[in-house]
Amino acid sequence: MWTKILSAAAALASLPLALAFNNPPGVDIWCGKAYRASNASFNPGGWFEKPSYSPSPLLNLKVRPRMSIYLDTDTAGSLLIDTSISHLVGDPLPIHTSTSYSSQRLHLNIHILTEDGDLVATISNHSLPLNATNTEIPLPFNNLTPHLTPYTITTIASLSNTTTTVTTTSELYYLPHRTDGGSATRIDHRYGSLSYLRGSSTTWTPIFPYTYYVQWSLYWDTNTSTLPTFASAGYNVIHIVPTGTLSDTPFPWSQFTPYLTLADTLNLHLQYDVLWDPTNLTAMIDQVSHIHTHPSLLLYYTGDEPDGKSNPLNSTKIAYDTLRRLDPYHPTSLALNCKNFYYEEYASGADIILSDVYPVATNTSWSTVYDTPCNATYGCCGCDDCEGRFEDISSRIDQFHSFDDLLGWEKVHWGAPQAFGNETFWTRYPTAEEEVVMIMLSINHGAMGIVMWDYPSSEEIERVTRELAPVVTGEEMVGFLVGADRERGVVNGAERVDVAVWVSGGKALVSILNLNYEGVEAEVKVVLAGGLGVKKLECVLWGGEGWRVEGGELVSDGLGGLEVSILVVELE
Ligand SMILES: *[C@@H]1O[C@H](CO)[C@@H](O)[C@H](O)[C@H]1NC(C)=O
Ligand SMILES: *[C@@H]1O[C@H](CO)[C@@H](O)[C@H](O)[C@H]1NC(C)=O
Ligand SMILES: *[C@@H]1O[C@H](CO)[C@@H](O)[C@H](O)[C@H]1NC(C)=O
Ligand SMILES: *[C@@H]1O[C@H](CO)[C@@H](O)[C@H](O)[C@H]1NC(C)=O
Ligand SMILES: *[C@@H]1O[C@H](CO)[C@@H](O)[C@H](O)[C@H]1NC(C)=O
Ligand SMILES: *[C@@H]1O[C@H](CO)[C@@H](O)[C@H](O)[C@H]1NC(C)=O
Ligand SMILES: *[C@@H]1O[C@H](CO)[C@@H](O)[C@H](O)[C@H]1NC(C)=O
Ligand SMILES: *[C@@H]1O[C@H](CO)[C@@H](O)[C@H](O)[C@H]1NC(C)=O
Ligand SMILES: *[C@@H]1O[C@H](CO)[C@@H](O)[C@H](O)[C@H]1NC(C)=O
Ligand SMILES: *[C@@H]1O[C@H](CO)[C@@H](O)[C@H](O)[C@H]1NC(C)=O
Repeated sequence: MWTKILSAAAALASLPLALAFNNPPGVDIWCGKAYRASNASFNPGGWFEKPSYSPSPLLNLKVRPRMSIYLDTDTAGSLLIDTSISHLVGDPLPIHTSTSYSSQRLHLNIHILTEDGDLVATISNHSLPLNATNTEIPLPFNNLTPHLTPYTITTIASLSNTTTTVTTTSELYYLPHRTDGGSATRIDHRYGSLSYLRGSSTTWTPIFPYTYYVQWSLYWDTNTSTLPTFASAGYNVIHIVPTGTLSDTPFPWSQFTPYLTLADTLNLHLQYDVLWDPTNLTAMIDQVSHIHTHPSLLLYYTGDEPDGKSNPLNSTKIAYDTLRRLDPYHPTSLALNCKNFYYEEYASGADIILSDVYPVATNTSWSTVYDTPCNATYGCCGCDDCEGRFEDISSRIDQFHSFDDLLGWEKVHWGAPQAFGNETFWTRYPTAEEEVVMIMLSINHGAMGIVMWDYPSSEEIERVTRELAPVVTGEEMVGFLVGADRERGVVNGAERVDVAVWVSGGKALVSILNLNYEGVEAEVKVVLAGGLGVKKLECVLWGGEGWRVEGGELVSDGLGGLEVSILVVELE
């Protein structure tokens, strides 16, 4: 969204300078780095520090509610428990256990406490093996009264035949069902997926968000009929970029409200930009007070690239805590632009992180806008620390997931694929084929939502993203994305072919992406992980020409350049 900073929202453009904290006076920065030819490179800092290796094993115990919120109309809840053995994070295990993990068990005493520390419930008598992840145990709601503030879950774990105990805490939201007609959205930490309910309904509906950042000034405010047109194209969420009159203060509610009302009737969900200002939350609070009861509200969006702009390190978390207090019914997202600049601090301010990595038709080692080199400490090329390959997208999400594992928090990642070009750093728009590759590569690496930058896009991109909409928001694919574990597939016979597999109920969703612009003229085989064999091809959701089943594997006699296939297979 650098593009927005340069063009659409002049108001935002003045923020980086005023708020930056790590640069010499008068030096403009992006992702903490000097980028003007008149300024020299300096060490921006903020690189994620991997914990040091502990030679003796550590118990990385995690006990957290599966759902980010429960309502008093939910009949059942559960806790997810990890008893991972790590050498990087956790509490020391007695050395001798390293030789006998299998005979050791962890006994858990789980207490639910009010904010004031009063004990309201105890869940005991659970005993788990070591090094297990995502063990699910029931979470009864007896004795809990619904509250807008969270309960605390304190778990005391003791290791059998030792005096070792480990304590961990997490938060539990058990909220009253809304009576104001508004919506609620929860995150399923098992799969990173979202579901929502609206009005008096007590049934959660899963959703895989698929949409664009849409320019208010270039599209919406021409006519409210743009909204049904957008929804009928198959996008299930809208993110209106507050440009033009929407960036005015006071906010033009009378002009904007008809769109909200219409969105409510179209079941078009909002990722709502709250006009966050890192130094003044007044406007954000005003936005929330107007929007929070709208049934179409899915989640809040605060920061557009706060890391790029070097907003104060505590600012995203302060906004997040404020939003949580005002409205615990909806999660918060923000977009990060930098590869590795104070990730922990900025990401602490959201449940969902979008990464906007734009690698197509750009020079990532030489800034064509500022005439400087770009590297780890200097320059701005529009794609931070990128190589100008599709893999920039997947390695960013993979890297953030690895940071999350070490930080021990639950964070959901979405993709913000490039759907613009012919400006600043980018010589042209991505093609339709490139667009599908970028969307699916994000999903293959665990993106649980897609918000492309930006709309209106090129005719070609708009056409193909419309065609893809019924696939990625359709029941078949969403069933796998929101409720199955994602694994990698193994490819034989070609390089740079990315395969992800979701397994559920005797079937698997297989997404196969050729990241090469050139075709592959040899036999290519895809083997599912974990010894799973393919019995037959059940259906083709996208592409798929040429794939057949042979000896439990998927086989093709070749691949087209940038070919994408999304298949559903039956397992042996
Ligand atoms: C950085 O560049 C600006 C001009 O863009 C110049 O005014 C300033 O003096 C430079 N600062 C340093 C420390 O080089
Ligand atoms: C604890 O669990 C075991 C096995 O699940 C069961 O046999 C036993 O009755 C339980 N004890 C209590 C006090 O609930
Ligand atoms: C724990 O589980 C992980 C993942 O399954 C595995 O790689 C690792 O070897 C296990 N560690 C021990 C000590 O068993
Ligand atoms: C641990 O104690 C249990 C009884 O509490 C016993 O059955 C088990 O054999 C012991 N395991 C080891 C490794 O000593
Ligand atoms: C809005 O668009 C609709 C359909 O495209 C059209 O019928 C209507 O006249 C437009 N209204 C205005 C005020 O332009
Ligand atoms: C904060 O923003 C509001 C408007 O959104 C403005 O009225 C107020 O003066 C601002 N406060 C400060 C301290 O700048
Ligand atoms: C946030 O950080 C700024 C310095 O960047 C500091 O002045 C401020 O007190 C901090 N706010 C809170 C609530 O910690
Ligand atoms: C990037 O620009 C540099 C300097 O002009 C040039 O040497 C290099 O070939 C360009 N790379 C790409 C991928 O265009
Ligand atoms: C990045 O480029 C600048 C300017 O050429 C140079 O001074 C700096 O040492 C480079 N940094 C790295 C990490 O290579
Ligand atoms: C690219 O942008 C330029 C300048 O804004 C415009 O004149 C031109 O028509 C655009 N080309 C394409 C293919 O969109």
